[in-house]
Amino acid sequence: MSYISGKTIKELRERKKLTQKQLGEIIAVSDKTVSKWETERGLPDIMLIEPLAKALGVSVAELLSGESITNKNRAGNIARAKFYVCPVCGNIIFSLGEGAFSCCGINLPPLSAEKPDENHPVEISRPEGDIFIRFGHPMTKEHYISFAAYVNYSGITIKKLYPEQEPEVRFPFCGKGKIFFCCSREGLFEAVF
Ligand SMILES: [Fe+2]
Repeated sequence: MSYISGKTIKELRERKKLTQKQLGEIIAVSDKTVSKWETERGLPDIMLIEPLAKALGVSVAELLSGESITNKNRAGNIARAKFYVCPVCGNIIFSLGEGAFSCCGINLPPLSAEKPDENHPVEISRPEGDIFIRFGHPMTKEHYISFAAYVNYSGITIKKLYPEQEPEVRFPFCGKGKIFFCCSREGLFEAVF
């Protein structure tokens, strides 16, 4: 498990335009202590995490992850949507930003999505208020599309696909966005429409 890094504390403190002394005063520790945290010669006690996050103007999650979210929408940003897929059990985790996720004892990296290629083409149509996607892809046990997701500003819908099914999905249309789909062998693809 990772804990707060000194670099994160320093960056957030500087962004807030606070000196080590000023930050220390807010949370009742000395500037020396703040300096130790920032140079990783000490770690803030768990009891101090919440007041520290508050003083630095971030959420506890942001403080711990070290990812400063400057977007005003703290609930997440669809442009930063990430998928994490467990290679052992096939679990799918969707996140509106980078996080630390593990499944089956494996730390999962966020998948980077490729553009559809000649082996993974998509055909998108819009029948009767829906969005219909057909993948030009095999659906065998050894090589198939394992899920498709429709992501836009209003949310995400994931549909699981299985071998022997037709390589197609249909979602109710609710605005322009992205279609993500995952090949069991070659990972994640992303089509914008
Ligand atoms: Fe494939």
